[in-house]
Amino acid sequence: MFILNSNADYRQPLTPGDAETLGLAAAEGVEHHLRYRENHAETPLISLPGLAAASGVAAIHVKDEGKRLGLGSFKALGGAYAVIRIVLEEAEVRLGRPVDMAELHATDIRKIAETMCFACATDGNHGRSVAQGAGLIGARAAIFVHAGVSDERVAAIARFGAEIIRVAGSYDDSVREAARVAKERGWTIVSDTSWPGYERIPGLVMQGYTVLVREALRQLPAPPTHVFIQSGVGGIAAAVAGHLAIALGAQRPIFTVVDPARAACLFETARAGHPVTVPHAEPTVMAMLECYEPSLVAWRILSRAADAFMTVDEEDAIAIMKRLANPVGNDPAVISGESGGVGLAGLLKAVADPEIKAALSIDPSSRIFVVNTEGATDPGKYRDIVGLSPEDVLSRGAA
Ligand SMILES: Cc1ncc(COP(=O)(O)O)c(C=O)c1O
Repeated sequence: MFILNSNADYRQPLTPGDAETLGLAAAEGVEHHLRYRENHAETPLISLPGLAAASGVAAIHVKDEGKRLGLGSFKALGGAYAVIRIVLEEAEVRLGRPVDMAELHATDIRKIAETMCFACATDGNHGRSVAQGAGLIGARAAIFVHAGVSDERVAAIARFGAEIIRVAGSYDDSVREAARVAKERGWTIVSDTSWPGYERIPGLVMQGYTVLVREALRQLPAPPTHVFIQSGVGGIAAAVAGHLAIALGAQRPIFTVVDPARAACLFETARAGHPVTVPHAEPTVMAMLECYEPSLVAWRILSRAADAFMTVDEEDAIAIMKRLANPVGNDPAVISGESGGVGLAGLLKAVADPEIKAALSIDPSSRIFVVNTEGATDPGKYRDIVGLSPEDVLSRGAA
């Protein structure tokens, strides 16, 4: 399914608050923060000329977030950053003086952090990031996981010392349960999705993601003409679309949001012109995108900054994982988890469909930018789907 954005706000500037959250100064602040983080390095930008030629476009560049901060996904940029920012803000209040990121590991900051507990619901990757941030600064974390989150993903979160709370039902049920328990116990919710009256912290999470766009704009030989970004609640799509709109203005690329057909909450929201909760369907292999309600802030931004919305099917997600592991011509292999290559799957679907291709004005001069949002964050699942372990793919010369 494919639609162009026909929302009333389409192409309006971002609201002043959203522009500040996702703007250049904010992104610089996040980069400043990253200088104090272990394992920080720009993630690679990978060119796939073989796939570009096969798809009839000039270039395809993939920002490989599988390499981010030792966590395997772009989510490493959001939750941990928000947790650390909130602790530093609390420290400013309690100490009555400005506190800089450079004090991240100072004893008096740690003492304050020890009194704080951060909670969130997660499909896997966001919780890993919140747990890592809390662990780094010395705070506690309580991570709520629904029934569909694999044991392997849960173990990766628990490794940071977080308390794990299993919740019956779906991701959206775990969001509600985390909010309820946190309120009862005085914990701070660090959610990657937002709802009425709860916007600032999800805004900080999205602010963290803007770094990947900043890095990409430095790494790309020329700004992209088209961007395809996958969506769960819409946070990364909104962060990328919003930052590109601010950084590139009228030169911004044509931006398409890509949802799994089985959890197409952004697509249906765009079709309705207002936030829509979609009915629960069968689970999708795109586990990290299995969200049935959009983030309110993300929708507000995408209603203005996205040009089109589309869905991809289960087989598209599986095919792209295999295709990235077994590349065309001399392209390097890319290790991409179940939700990682979904934006690229959207591009391949678009170029194979003459109507979508024309609607998006894709032609041989198009320069495509996508984000591999995760590596093999669940290695067992990766092996089952691709038929190779991540190590096997690496030994074949992955990027
Ligand atoms: C690997 C991966 N890709 C994409 C997404 C979607 O991000 P958002 O929920 O911000 O739309 C997620 C969310 O958890 C994710 O983990």
